[in-house]
Amino acid sequence: MAPVTERTTGPIVAAAATISIALISYCFYYNKSDTKTTNSKKKKTSKPKTSKKGLVDAIGNTPLIRINSLSDATGCEILGKCEFLNPGGSVKDRVAVKIIEEALESGKLSQGGVVTEGSAGSTAISLATVAPSYGCKCHVVIPDDAAIEKSQILEALGATVERVRPVSITHRDHYVNIARRRAIEANEFASKHRKADCLDGKEPAQIYDYGSDETKQSSIFSSDCTGGFFADQFENLANFRAHYDGTGPEIWEQTGDCLDAFVAAAGTGGTVAGVSRFLQEKNQNIKCFLVDPPGSSLFNKVTRGVMYTKEEAEGKRLKNPFDTITEGIGINRSTQNFMMAKLDGAFRGTDREAVEMSRFILKNDGLFLGSSSAMNCVGAVRVAQSLGPGHTIVTILCDNGMRHLSKFYDAQYLSQYGLTPTATGLEFLDIK
Ligand SMILES: Cc1ncc(COP(=O)(O)O)c(C=O)c1O
Repeated sequence: MAPVTERTTGPIVAAAATISIALISYCFYYNKSDTKTTNSKKKKTSKPKTSKKGLVDAIGNTPLIRINSLSDATGCEILGKCEFLNPGGSVKDRVAVKIIEEALESGKLSQGGVVTEGSAGSTAISLATVAPSYGCKCHVVIPDDAAIEKSQILEALGATVERVRPVSITHRDHYVNIARRRAIEANEFASKHRKADCLDGKEPAQIYDYGSDETKQSSIFSSDCTGGFFADQFENLANFRAHYDGTGPEIWEQTGDCLDAFVAAAGTGGTVAGVSRFLQEKNQNIKCFLVDPPGSSLFNKVTRGVMYTKEEAEGKRLKNPFDTITEGIGINRSTQNFMMAKLDGAFRGTDREAVEMSRFILKNDGLFLGSSSAMNCVGAVRVAQSLGPGHTIVTILCDNGMRHLSKFYDAQYLSQYGLTPTATGLEFLDIK
């Protein structure tokens, strides 16, 4: 038998190699196309993991960021909860969702209804933002000293807006009282239309030529309005619950067991109450503080247990536009929401400090903050100074500067009140 030579084995090896390659390629291709088939099958059967809440799912779970400039200057970790990243642009998105969901659950509001609110801006913007997700509308009453861009945004969002003269809360025409009335009127309006529909044998509702008040109603409420619900952010504890169930737990999880203190200013008190109560229930050693703007009585309430000096008897004091240039914070009455707070102390903050703080943070951290957030950062530094270095302090970055261009970020407006910023560092808070 002829020996097996290279010449004779060469073609055999080559053929075997070719067959192997072909086999491997086939298997590879087969597997790939099999995977493709499986994937395309998967695509058809599986859905992305989202709930049906749409926009509402984007609210909350905001990042907690280190404010480097303030942390480095104080030797504390000063952290800001970025509530300005909510879709409606502020911390109030959480409150709007909770108020509407609780009202729908209780049957006090139904689809096609109008949510009314007396708000200096942010809550109203949040209500107007989320109301369509629930098939509802929004009517807002605001004081006419609130920045004009706030009502422009509201109208663009589809809400109806009434700008009214700022008067004492005891006055019938305080914006909160008007908003409460509008909800009652919406209910009357809807029930009249329901009756008319019954009489007409279910013809579509018409708008009648009512007397003066009713004419106003028909310009505010659409003919298919199913009723009204007064959001009542000051007294409605859904506000507190939004922070007790949401903001507080998020801060707790984001800080682990490192948190020493929390500080925020109060408008309705919902944020400071919900967060402080939740955190102190988790760990009594976490200190919670209020920072209070000029013209507000809450500092007195927290530090002395009384809201007013003699000249400031309840209801007599008008929170006028010259008290403070910060918006959404400071109040001269104790609200149901604020009463839920568990506070260890309070600091006063001035307008000058808030203005200087906003510019300092913008320059050093690139954070473009609204006036209440700037005041909260003033509070965070005050807490850092009182606790000393090595502590972790959280505050709320409620909204960004975009809504504050015509006042807080307007050079002419500030100079009118002698508030033109001049600081080069944090010397306005006694930090060299
Ligand atoms: C911009 C802004 N920041 C802060 C607050 C205060 O928050 P709270 O009402 O939870 O006390 C408000 C309240 O309206 C606000 O509008």
